[in-house]
Amino acid sequence: MSGSFAEIHLGALRENLLQVRSQTGTAPILAVVKANAYGHGAVRVAQFLEQCQPKVDFFGVAFLEEGIALRTAGIQNPILVLTGCPMDEISDLIQYDLTPVIFDVDTLAAINTQAAKRGKIIKIHLKIDTGMSRLGILPDDFFTFLEKAASYEMITIEGLLSHFAEADLRDLAFTQTQLNTMNTILGQLAQKGIRLPYYHLANSAAILHFKPSTLSLIRPGLMLYGYSPLKEKTDIPLRPVMQIRARVLALKNVSKGTSISYGRTFITKGDSRIATVAIGYADGYPLSLSNTGIMIAKGKRVPVIGRVCMDMCMLDVTTVRDLSVGDWVTVFGEDGPESIWADQLAQWANTHPYELLCGIGTRVQRRYIQP
Ligand SMILES: Cc1ncc(COP(=O)(O)O)c(C=O)c1O
Repeated sequence: MSGSFAEIHLGALRENLLQVRSQTGTAPILAVVKANAYGHGAVRVAQFLEQCQPKVDFFGVAFLEEGIALRTAGIQNPILVLTGCPMDEISDLIQYDLTPVIFDVDTLAAINTQAAKRGKIIKIHLKIDTGMSRLGILPDDFFTFLEKAASYEMITIEGLLSHFAEADLRDLAFTQTQLNTMNTILGQLAQKGIRLPYYHLANSAAILHFKPSTLSLIRPGLMLYGYSPLKEKTDIPLRPVMQIRARVLALKNVSKGTSISYGRTFITKGDSRIATVAIGYADGYPLSLSNTGIMIAKGKRVPVIGRVCMDMCMLDVTTVRDLSVGDWVTVFGEDGPESIWADQLAQWANTHPYELLCGIGTRVQRRYIQP
């Protein structure tokens, strides 16, 4: 018996992919499926997207293991490993036919040596740091790096990428500066007669409101899963892919003045009916939603009362009729006339939907709903 489950609506995933396509013309798509596809289940999501129309051309993961899991599950598309390639992972990287993002010069020689041993040409993408100060070659060092990379006969440079720091803001000044840095490098490459197959920079935010950054490949993550990262409202209709339900484990009537949960942070203001439901912070329901979150029971909004526990939390269901032990409440999703989505929950929890979705724990069983 599971305490909670996540419905993953694959039809919504496809609709969001169509929205990505409608915003970006024919640019090839790299679907970002790192962090277990933002909590949605990377293998099932990638398997679905690989069969979808419009076509997804690449997948993006953060780490080698994520790429290996996709390959082992039969994923054929190129897979970009976005955080680079530590020396001790090169052998697996080559074996599983993964494409590394490179920004460290020593890695080049090591990849070349191992590729030569196997007689296999390795495609790489070079990352430029245009302002995120996280991963990437500094623009001033780029052409020296490129020359070095191009000198290795077992390495093919397939792409060039960078990453935006604040493309979600209404004020796109810094984002424009990052794009300008990238475009300057692309201009210099063109002058040298160098043309690579892929140039990429655009995440969901850029796809939604900064079209000039589309370049020749786009990298949507969050919007595929149904949320906009923008601070402003967008007219582009996205449909959340995940909905979560949790089981009612216990129901009890308590009198006015009863304290609820650890720390006794909630005291009932009147005679109340309390439901204990099977989701807690170990499942990714944030502790910060203690006395703040709202769930939906039998189509009615009900408050989370008291502190969220590791495996459970309590709801005031005094106003809900016909709720029984074993029923399911909606943690986020649609339930009768009501709906609560992860972005709303994230706002209440003082975080963003990325953290909330990625944090949904492994105990929450994923159930895939076909379109
Ligand atoms: C390098 C890179 N590209 C693209 C994305 C996708 O971003 P988003 O989910 O905002 O679309 C991410 C996500 O963090 C990323 O790290």
